[in-house]
Amino acid sequence: MEDKIRVQNLFKIFGKNPQEALEKYQSGTSAEQLFKESGHVVAVADVSFSVAPGEMFMVMGLSGSGKSTLVRCLNRLLDATSGSVFVDDEDIQKVDGERLREIRRKKMAMVFQHFGLFPHRTVLGNAEYGLKVQGIEEEVRREKALKALELVGLKEWADRPLSNLSGGMQQRVGLARALATEADILLMDEAFSALDPLIRRDMQDELINLQREMQKTIVFITHDLNEALKLGDRIAVMKGGEIVQIGTPEDIVSNPENDYVANFTQDINRSLVLTASSIMEAPEPLFLKRDTVRTAMVRMRSIDRDEIYVVNSQRQPVGIITDKDIAAALKKKINDLSEVMNTDFPQTTESTSLGDILPLCTAGLPIAVVNENGRLRGILDPLDCLNNITPNTYDNGESSSVEEPAKTEEEKALPVKDAPVDGATEKSANEEPGSGA
Ligand SMILES: Nc1ncnc2c1ncn2[C@@H]1O[C@H](COP(=O)(O)OP(=O)(O)O)[C@@H](O)[C@H]1O
Ligand SMILES: [Mg+2]
Repeated sequence: MEDKIRVQNLFKIFGKNPQEALEKYQSGTSAEQLFKESGHVVAVADVSFSVAPGEMFMVMGLSGSGKSTLVRCLNRLLDATSGSVFVDDEDIQKVDGERLREIRRKKMAMVFQHFGLFPHRTVLGNAEYGLKVQGIEEEVRREKALKALELVGLKEWADRPLSNLSGGMQQRVGLARALATEADILLMDEAFSALDPLIRRDMQDELINLQREMQKTIVFITHDLNEALKLGDRIAVMKGGEIVQIGTPEDIVSNPENDYVANFTQDINRSLVLTASSIMEAPEPLFLKRDTVRTAMVRMRSIDRDEIYVVNSQRQPVGIITDKDIAAALKKKINDLSEVMNTDFPQTTESTSLGDILPLCTAGLPIAVVNENGRLRGILDPLDCLNNITPNTYDNGESSSVEEPAKTEEEKALPVKDAPVDGATEKSANEEPGSGA
C-alpha cells in the first residue's frame, strides 16, 4: 500500500541562520552547544517515518521534544530546514501557495488543543467554519456540518451558542469541524490534553469508534503515554527532536529499544497493553488420529514440556495431555490420544490482553491461544503471563522476577512470535494427513 504521509530526514532548526546551524549540527556540534553558541534550537532532528492510509499514528514525547514543530512541518505551517514531507506522494515543500491552501483545506485538517472555536457563534456555525473558509455554499456546508455533528453526537445542539456547552462538548465541536471538511488526514495536536480525565477518556473512546467508520489517516500528538498506547496503531517516541523508537504499543511496552523508552513505560499497566500474541510460544501440537500416546511421549521429551496440546485436522485444539496422563496410559497400554486427553483446558484469543487472561492462569495449565478460526496459534505459560505483568525494564535478558530454569541454546533459538501456524516440527508437518507423505 502507498504511504499516505512520508517524512524523510526532516530537520527544523529555529534561529537566525538555520542552514549554517544545520551544517554545524551535521558535522558534530551538539544541539546544546548550538543553542549556547548562537541561540539556535534544533527542534526536529533527522526524523523519518511513514504513515499508512487509515493508520492512527501517535507522536509521543515530553513537552519541548519537538512534537508540535514536527506536525506543523507536515502541513507546512512551518517550513522545514531540511528533508522532505510527502503527502500522497506529493512533495509538500515544493507546491505553490495555491496548491498548499487547497491541500490544507481538502486533504489535511488540523485539530489543535485550543480549537480556535468561536464562543458566540452557534455549534453549527463553529462546525461549518472550515467549509466556509473553503468557500463552500451555505446549503452544502450545513449538510456536511450537521452530518459531522451527528457523528460526534451533538446534532441536537446545532443551533445553541457554543458557550452553552461544557468543555468536553466543545472539544467535540472542534472534532466535528475537522470531520466536516472531509479531509482524509487529521493532524491532532494535543487535541484532548486540556480536558479533564473523565471527559478525555470519553473523547478517546469516541475517536476510536469514529475511526472505525471513518478510516482517516490520523497523526495524533500527545505527551501522555497512556493516550498514545490506547489510541495508536503505532507510536513514535520523541526526545530532544529525535524519534528514539517507532513501534506498535506492544513493541514500545514489551521491547523498549533504549533506556529512555523503558523508563517512560515502566509504570505502565502492562496487563492492558500486552496481548496473548506478544508472549505466546510455538505450540508444537499433536494431531488427533495421527499421533499416538507413544509419539506424545517422544515429543514431550524432545521439547521438554510437561503438557502438550492435541489439535484436530483443522488445527483446532481439542485436548491437552500431561506427562502423568501419558505415564498412566502407557501402563494401561492405551495408545489412542482421545482416550487420555483432557478436553477441559484454558483457551484464549491472540488479541486478548494479559489482564483478561489472568483468571485462566490459575488452572496451572498452559493456555491455548487461538486465532479467529479457532486454530491453535500458540501456547501461553501461566508463569510467563504473570511475569510479563510485572513492571517494565529494559530487557537485557537478565531481568525476570520469577526464577526459571536456564534455557538451552536450542530452546532460545525456538521461534516465539512468528511461529508457523502449527508450530509443529518438520517431521510432523511431513506426516500431516493428506500431505502425501
Ligand atoms: N518559533 C520558535 N522559535 C524558537 N524556538 C521554538 C519555536 N517553536 C518551538 N521552539 C522550540 O522548539 C522545541 C520544540 O518545541 P515544540 O515543537 O513546541 O515541542 P512540543 O510540542 O513537543 O512541546 C522547544 O525547545 C521549543 O522551545
Ligand atoms: Mg506541543
